[in-house]
Amino acid sequence: MTTLWPTSYYTDEDHLSLEQERIFERSWICAARSSDIAAPGAFVRVNVGRESVLLVRKKDGDIRALINLCRHRGAQLCLEEEGTFKNSIRCPYHGWTFNFDGHLVGAPFLHELPPETKQRHLFTAQVDEWLGYIWVNLDPTAPPLMEQVGPLLRGRFGDEDVPGNYECEKLRVAKEVTYEVAANWKILYENFCECYHCPTMHPEICQILPSWRTGYGTVSGPEGPKQEGSPLADDATGFSLSGKAAAQKLPKVPEKHARTFHGILLWPNVHLMFIPDHVMCMRFEPVSPGRTRVVVQWLFHPDAMDDAEFSPDDAAALVEVTAMEDFEACERVQAAANSAYFEEFHTPHESLILEFREWVHQLLHPESVRHLKEAV
Ligand code: FES
Ligand SMILES: [Fe+2]
Repeated sequence: MTTLWPTSYYTDEDHLSLEQERIFERSWICAARSSDIAAPGAFVRVNVGRESVLLVRKKDGDIRALINLCRHRGAQLCLEEEGTFKNSIRCPYHGWTFNFDGHLVGAPFLHELPPETKQRHLFTAQVDEWLGYIWVNLDPTAPPLMEQVGPLLRGRFGDEDVPGNYECEKLRVAKEVTYEVAANWKILYENFCECYHCPTMHPEICQILPSWRTGYGTVSGPEGPKQEGSPLADDATGFSLSGKAAAQKLPKVPEKHARTFHGILLWPNVHLMFIPDHVMCMRFEPVSPGRTRVVVQWLFHPDAMDDAEFSPDDAAALVEVTAMEDFEACERVQAAANSAYFEEFHTPHESLILEFREWVHQLLHPESVRHLKEAV
């Protein structure tokens, strides 16, 4: 199937602004690991869409997502990426001070200011925790996180709670790598939507997951998603460059999945891999039309990590090698995306790309979706 697509789709600043406004600033975005802010007062500063957001752990254990912008004259409250606030958040400019709920609790000469000044609370975003990650939604009217990810989970795994088997919230980050790739975030995401490139480009992963040599991975198959996952090669004990498991099977992974790889894309910004002994989470953040930050984390059971012999490196190396192959290909597409000749052809292996694009299109142009519904 040939698709003509405007070249602006991958290259245009205005198009990315629209995506930021209608996708990243209205969807649930996986923003940080819950353990990043374990102690009361701990915070991380993250980007959600075009906004800077402070994720703060309150004394009662809850998390607040506060827009990093002072309600006096708009200065950014915090420039550090992470740290710990003592009891409050104080703007360095004129000293307005907010508690962790975002309420104004102090300001120079506050008693001389009109009483309504005290109502100038920080703006907040919706926040939730799932899989041991902190998810943020800037849209106060957005439905709960599960309404966004539930249909994707059911479409991929059916009725089985596959992520639940891995108890991600109990796992620890054994390794983290951040990449900056010279490609539009959708080019990266679309790459992970298909395995048509696997037999050509990924000899290492096809050695461990031989079924990928068919050009169908786990996120798509001849009849749609392959809910049963991909089996490890007969001579492999784990998903790693050497083919050896890095740790014991996670406790709640059922025997039927003891030699199975599962993967899922939770758009817009998450790619998860579930392997018997660990979980990999890849998050995408658009930096500019032609650049994307990718944060990869490998999560293992704390008991496995306490073993003196433990190393995540062999497992991580398989994803690292594969990711470098993917990123290079994505950069080739980006380099061509401004050409007047740019167009695409999609094989049946790549059908998930079209589903993803439909989702993007519906968020970018809700009016056209309404129109389509009326016409039916
Ligand atoms: S801008 Fe923050 S106190 Fe003035
Ligand atoms: Fe790939």
